[in-house]
Amino acid sequence: MFESLEMAPPDAILGLTEAFNKDTNPRKINLSVGVFQDSDGKTPILKTVKEAERRLLESEKAKGYLPISGSPELGTLTQQLVFGAGHEIIGSRRCVSLQTPGGTGALRVAGDLLKTTLPKSRVWVSKPTWPNHPKIFEAAGRQIETYPYIDAAGTGLDLDGMLAALSKCSPGDAVLLHAGCHNPTGIDPTPDQWRKIGDLLYEKKLLPLVDFAYQGFAEGLDEDARGLRELCRPGAELMVCSSFSKNFGLYCERVGILSIVAGSADLAQVVMSQAKVCVRVNYSNPPKHGGAIVSTILADAELRKQWEAEVTEMRDRINSMRKLFVESMKQRCDRDFSFIARQRGMFSFTGLSAVQVDELRTKFGVYVVAGGGRINVAGMTPGNMPVLCDALAAVL
Ligand code: LMR
Repeated sequence: MFESLEMAPPDAILGLTEAFNKDTNPRKINLSVGVFQDSDGKTPILKTVKEAERRLLESEKAKGYLPISGSPELGTLTQQLVFGAGHEIIGSRRCVSLQTPGGTGALRVAGDLLKTTLPKSRVWVSKPTWPNHPKIFEAAGRQIETYPYIDAAGTGLDLDGMLAALSKCSPGDAVLLHAGCHNPTGIDPTPDQWRKIGDLLYEKKLLPLVDFAYQGFAEGLDEDARGLRELCRPGAELMVCSSFSKNFGLYCERVGILSIVAGSADLAQVVMSQAKVCVRVNYSNPPKHGGAIVSTILADAELRKQWEAEVTEMRDRINSMRKLFVESMKQRCDRDFSFIARQRGMFSFTGLSAVQVDELRTKFGVYVVAGGGRINVAGMTPGNMPVLCDALAAVL
């Protein structure tokens, strides 16, 4: 049965870490996968996560299944984090949330739900976007379209191009937006640009499908949600896919939330019933542990305060690496990298060619993602910066 099968290509991002792990170069640097590292190059377990786990170990009484939609408490806490406590969307009960295996799980459930509820809807993604986005929605049987995102210089947003493309969408089409820390470019719309995007989507009756994988990594937990909140117009429907991989450092625990906002509380219940059908035939119900950690932290005032400080610390470290990178490159070559310090979140686009990306890996053991040379700034440290910048200057 399997004889005619050909080997699938390695994953554009996770495949690089597989190759990195096999590389014997002692000076190797992994700037491919979006995982936070501290200044020693380690991915830490947050102190608040350890404390929450200690409490869970003591208090947990059962290992039965969670409901199909996961922990209701986590759903409520996430809605407050995303929309802000007291938001009309929460008060009117027109938002329902499902706990999912990571943000990727949330995206896939959203894709399956679109297939069931809006079978003709296409999914519009930015060009470029996270390479897994189109694949997830294709796997859910969706037709993918793209809208322009970066300007000709490759360092800023092409808002006019984006709006022109989106104005051609049909009502009911879903538009995938990154709430902040755009992956792979690090380029986000300004508040004014978010308003214009929101106006267009509302006017054309398009469904915002927001990937919120990096809440807290751009400016702050609340600040990073402001763009998305511009899309919350009276009666407007939207979907938000939250991930807790990055801001809680819970990568391997696979914890995410799909929040779906419907036109009314009654409709929200109907949508929830359909989403549960999508989940039941996929993974049945979500894993518990990661979500229980997040709920424990968000529901406890003291732990939450400490966690917010930990998120700030991670964000500040990334931003300090952005500055150090720009200064270090200035000393080595004429190319202007100052845009890296203006971009946000874990990623930036270096604009390296495929040949340069290849040379970085084969000659210097520096791993960046092909197709524009996405770098994970959170993988830079004061220690690896000279090696990294020497290698980059050499390939440039
Ligand atoms: C990334 O873009 O590197 C992260 O979102 C991890 C992943 O699953 O690709």
